[in-house]
Amino acid sequence: LNYNKAEFTAAYGKFSQLPPPERIEIAFAGHSNVGKSTLINKLFNRKNLARVSSVPGKTATINFYGLDNMYFVDLPGYGYAKVSKSEKERWSGLIEGYLSSERDIRLVFMLVDMRHAPTKDDIQMIDYLIDTEMPFVLVLTKADKLNKTERAKRLEAFKHEIPCFEDIHSIPFSSQTFEGVEELRQIVDEIADD
Ligand code: GTP
Ligand code: MG
Repeated sequence: LNYNKAEFTAAYGKFSQLPPPERIEIAFAGHSNVGKSTLINKLFNRKNLARVSSVPGKTATINFYGLDNMYFVDLPGYGYAKVSKSEKERWSGLIEGYLSSERDIRLVFMLVDMRHAPTKDDIQMIDYLIDTEMPFVLVLTKADKLNKTERAKRLEAFKHEIPCFEDIHSIPFSSQTFEGVEELRQIVDEIADD
């Protein structure tokens, strides 16, 4: 794939607004502020294709990016405390509606902050992906913020914190050092060539 050619398609605030499922899709899920939009920008070599903010809750819509025969789908980040209950319900409705839809979702990149234990919401998402047999890859973000010892410690801890961690394909990732970017592209390329 020529990653430089990705284009923003549109942002959707309601599940019913999504475009017809005429392409295969790869989705990005994770807690608010985990780095979904940043990762999308790195994948596509762009500074501002997906909007990034130090303020959590930036992506409150489902954002579609088109490239070739695929859509890349930036899901709203869950778990952000400072939004109203109704807004939280709208977000989880969007995420659940999307994941349980009949769309041709080939893979979910499930992002978790490598520095911390996963949240309850993270575990719920991972359980959901496992239960529904949705293919997913765990992306451990902000790897640059850990030194060697801390990294080894977190990887050990994940074995106890994340169900089936050792059976899940996981990739440490950093938007700062580009660690993991090539591995993600290889995974995407394989899906595109299918
Ligand atoms: P929502 O849209 O709120 O769901 O957040 P998001 O998951 O899209 O996170 P976003 O990409 O906006 O990044 C949140 C913050 O984390 C920004 O300040 C980023 O610069 C920072 N960040 C993202 N990825 C990395 C990383 O790999 N390393 C470091 N050091 N910072 C990162
Ligand atoms: Mg975002």
